[in-house]
Amino acid sequence: MAIPTIEWADGRIRLIDQTLLPNEFKQIYCDNVESVWEAIKSLRVRGAPAIGIAAALGAVLGIWKSEATNYDDFVSELKRVADYLATSRPTAVNLFWALERIKQTAAKQKHLEISELKKTLLDEALQIVEEDKSMCRAIGQHGLELVHNGDTILTHCNAGGLATSDYGTALAVMFAAHEAGKNISVYADETRPLLQGARLTTWELMQAGIDVTLICDNMAAQVMKEGKIQSIVVGADRIAANGDTANKIGTYGVAVLAKEHEIPFYVAAPTSTLDLSLETGDGIPIEQRAAEEVTEGFGKRIAPQGVKVYSPAFDVTPARLITAIITEKGIARPPYEIRLKELVAS
Ligand code: MRU
Repeated sequence: MAIPTIEWADGRIRLIDQTLLPNEFKQIYCDNVESVWEAIKSLRVRGAPAIGIAAALGAVLGIWKSEATNYDDFVSELKRVADYLATSRPTAVNLFWALERIKQTAAKQKHLEISELKKTLLDEALQIVEEDKSMCRAIGQHGLELVHNGDTILTHCNAGGLATSDYGTALAVMFAAHEAGKNISVYADETRPLLQGARLTTWELMQAGIDVTLICDNMAAQVMKEGKIQSIVVGADRIAANGDTANKIGTYGVAVLAKEHEIPFYVAAPTSTLDLSLETGDGIPIEQRAAEEVTEGFGKRIAPQGVKVYSPAFDVTPARLITAIITEKGIARPPYEIRLKELVAS
């Protein structure tokens, strides 16, 4: 990304407002923790790693002007801010992981002056951003071996530079393959209801000069049946210890279709997206979104007033449908219970 998805800018947070893309490219500023919460909730900043970064920077923003004069008051304030940000979206574990990291940093620095402590927390948040950048690059490099010259890859939602600090996870694999001189093409599912595939993934891939074709979500089966797809690569919002993976609603359906058509289905995600505290995906909280996103998402009413709507934002793909999980530490294959733990420990 020529312009960072999200960054610290002199006591404020500057981010690309992704709700406006691709029609308008605009950076907005968050001056307080409430506006960060709103930006996460309304998907101005979105994608699991980027949500984690927003939460870390948001927590720092929330205490940046703290007038606490002692450590205990400061830490209570930080906890209030973190608890509040934790209510923005429930599924991407990176949000909770990043908030925990900031709180743990404060817990270890009891001896510091409050002004020094604030700077230390900012350094930690910026460290998360830097680590995310290198994790994405490493995912791209590891994923390279799974992509062959001439492959067409299908992806769902957006797991690109916009969903991370830079370069992405699923799209990192495609960027890396393209940069390595492999001739690849991509089919992007539009991703109803908020169209992250149509609006963001195609935008990113076109900018990178990668051949991309947009399809409606319900065209994936036909495209696979026609033999057009050699592999599927998607991102993740939370991966349980057994490999069950939560990602954007519709991912599970794509995985079932991949199985039927004997196409490898890969998940690309940093280890910060693993939640080894959950044995299986059954424990992953699934965000429910407002009915209006389905009935009038982009300004045009498409269903009768008063119609009942059910709108889970994520689904869980069972581990048995996942061929491999590409992380920054390497590629995990089944049995995930063992391989994921080994990767984290490595
Ligand atoms: O609701 P969103 O747009 O935040 O959902 C994003 C996804 O599901 C991504 O695939 C996932 O977060 C991985 S991003 C690298």
